[in-house]
This record gives sequence, structure tokens and C-alpha cells, in this order.
Amino acid sequence: MNNPPIDSAFVTTADVQLNLFDLLRKGTAELHELVERRVPVLREGFNLEDYIQLVESFLGFWAPVEERLSRLDTLRSPHLALQSRLKCSLLREDLLILGRDPDTARKCERLPRLDTFLQGLGCLYVIEGSTLGSQIIARRLNEKLQLSEASGASFFNAYGKSVGARWMEFKHFVSASVKPEDADEMIEAARQTFLCFYEWLGTTSAIVRRL
Ligand code: HEM
Repeated sequence: MNNPPIDSAFVTTADVQLNLFDLLRKGTAELHELVERRVPVLREGFNLEDYIQLVESFLGFWAPVEERLSRLDTLRSPHLALQSRLKCSLLREDLLILGRDPDTARKCERLPRLDTFLQGLGCLYVIEGSTLGSQIIARRLNEKLQLSEASGASFFNAYGKSVGARWMEFKHFVSASVKPEDADEMIEAARQTFLCFYEWLGTTSAIVRRL
């Protein structure tokens, strides 16, 4: 007996979410690992000066990327709430608290292409996903350097207890807006974002060069 045809009406938003985010995770896994190694907060000997340089490096990338994302009209949906996801101001506040001038931080010029809705979402996957790993980083900063949200680590504590909820909201928005055939463009943008950030970290932070 032949299998019955698959009725696309039975492919739910949850299925799309599962598949797309599974593909995104698999498609960027080795790049996540590379970037993780260049964010060496978990290493012995990581000190306050290393941390300040790392915050400067993050600002040098997040600032131009967020500026470009903000320029994309297609990302201006209330369901995405892009403005509330921009975290560059937290990095600036952290630097000020740590006694540095955020305006002197170098800015990355080699950025991922951010011309289309899907490229924007692929990039945002990386930016928003980083809040998940940031929870581990925040705990470490607190244990080793006694840094909290109020004393120079607000970026890595972004969203506080709502990290999981904000991530789920992002996933829902993406799943409702992206068709399965659009996955490749989004994954490519996520890969480019990871790669550009990886290269940038290699040129900015002294601790990365020391490793
Ligand atoms: C020491 C540094 C880092 C550590 C230890 C780390 C660790 C993690 C962990 C444990 C998760 C999974 C969390 C979960 O499933 O609940 C995660 C997810 C993620 N991280 Fe990182 N991370 C780090 C840095 C970064 C950075 C700098 C970025 C981006 C520039 C990033 C991007 C992502 C993304 C996109 C995800 C979502 C993966 C997915 O489930 O699809 N991470 N990270």
C-alpha cells in the first residue's frame, strides 16, 4: 500500500521551529565553539583588565551590527520588539562603570551582510542566542571578579530572569515568519555573523593573542 501524501496543513509552527532551530544550531556549531574559545572568561587567570578589553571588543562589534539591524525596516515588528533587544547601551554603561570611555573603543568594519529580512534574522539568532551562554559567563564573572549587573556586567546579565522567555519569544517570531525554504539564507547569515565576530575577536583582545 502507498503511503498517504503528507498534508502540509499538518506541519505546525512547532515543527517549523524545531527543524529550523535544529538546522541553525547544527549549521553553526563549529563556529560557536571557535567563538567560545575566544571569549576566555572561564579560563584560569582571566582578570579584570582582560574583562574590560573583552567588553570593548564586544562593543566594537555589537554597535555597528545593531545599528545596521535597526536600519532594516522589515525587522520593525512589535512581535520582534527589536529595540528592546539592542544591548549596546549596556556595554557602554559597563565600560563607564569600569572607568573606560566607550567612545574610544575601536569599531569592527568587516560585518556580515545585513540587507534582507532573513539576513537580519540570521544575525539576530547569534546576537540573541548569545544571551543563553551569557548566563554562564555572568555567573563566572560574579564568582571570580565579583562583578554583578550593577558593577560592570550588565551586558552579560541582560534580560535577567527573562532570558528563557525572551529566547522563546524570538523563536516564535522566527518560526511564524520564516518558510522552510528560507532556512539556507538565514543559516548563512548566522554563519557570517559568527565568523566576522570570531575574526574581530582575534584582532582586538590581548588575552586572545596570549592564548
Ligand atoms: C564563553 C563563552 C560562551 C559559552 C560558555 C557559551 C555557552 C552556550 C551554551 C551552554 C548554550 C546553550 C544554552 C541552552 O541551550 O540553554 C549556548 C547557546 C548559544 N550561544 Fe553561546 N556561549 C558562549 C558565547 C557565545 C557568544 C559570544 C555567542 C555569539 C556571538 C554565542 C552564541 C550562542 C547561540 C546563537 C546559541 C543558541 C544555540 C541554539 O540553541 O540554537 N555564544 N551558548
